[in-house]
Amino acid sequence: MKEFSTIPQHIAIVMDGNGRWAKKHFFKRIIGHRYGIDALRNTVRESSNLGVKTLTVFAFSEENWNRPSTEVASLMKLMKDYLIKEREPLHKKNIKIMTIGNIEKLPHEVQVELKKSKELTKHNTKMNFILAVSYSGRSEIIRATKAIVKDIENHKLESQAINEDIFSHYLDTKGLPDPDLFIRTSGEVRVSNFLLWQIAYSEIYITKTLWPDFTVEELHKAIEAYGKRERRFGLVKT
Ligand code: FPP
Repeated sequence: MKEFSTIPQHIAIVMDGNGRWAKKHFFKRIIGHRYGIDALRNTVRESSNLGVKTLTVFAFSEENWNRPSTEVASLMKLMKDYLIKEREPLHKKNIKIMTIGNIEKLPHEVQVELKKSKELTKHNTKMNFILAVSYSGRSEIIRATKAIVKDIENHKLESQAINEDIFSHYLDTKGLPDPDLFIRTSGEVRVSNFLLWQIAYSEIYITKTLWPDFTVEELHKAIEAYGKRERRFGLVKT
C-alpha cells in the first residue's frame, strides 16, 4: 500500500463536474452522476484503507432542489439505490454511515433508506462516512442559531456561555473534527456553501479532474499535496 507522510483525519469533498463529464462523452447528465457513484465507491474504500477517520461528501445541496425536476428525481433514485446496494459492504468494512443536512426535505423512501443505513452501521468504528444531503452551510448555521435561541428561552443555555465550542455542538457535525483537507473537483475555485463553519482552517485542494474521473491515484495526489502543506492555524512558525 502507498505510504504518506500524513493522512488527513477528515477529508471533505465537493464532487463536482458530473454534468460536464457527461457532456464531454455525449451522455445525458444523469449518466455523469451514475459514473460519479463509481468514483465515490472507490474514494470511500481507499479513504478507509488509508486510515482516514472521517470522509464527508457533498451529495446534494439545498440549491440542487432548484435543478430540473427530472434530474432531482434521478439523483434521489440514485441515492436510494446506492444506499440499498452499498450499506452491507460498507457495514462489513466497519464504516459508519451518517448524514448532515435538511434530511426532512428528502422523499420519504430516501429518508427510510438513510435511516436503515445509519441504524445498521451506527456502532462501526473504522471510518465515519458522512453524506451531506439537502445540505447548505448557511442553512445549517441558521438551524443551529434557532436551536440556541430555543435553549436560551427554555433556560437550558445562558447566552454568556456561548463560545465556538458550544456553537459547534449545535451544528449537524457536532462531535466530529473539522476537515483537514477540502477537495473540490472540476477546477471550480469556490466553496459553494459547503461546511462554512467547519472549513475555517482546512487545507484546500482543487483539481481540474471531473468527479467521475477522480480515481484512487487522484486521491493520493490530494493527500500528497496536503502532506506538503504547513498548517499554522493562525500561529507563527516555530
Ligand atoms: C455535481 O456535478 C454533483 C452533484 C450535484 C451531485 C453529486 C452526486 C454524485 C456524485 C452521485 C450521487 C451521490 C450519491 C451519494 C448517491 P454537477 O451536476 O454540478 O456537474 P456540472 O457542474 O459539470 O454540471
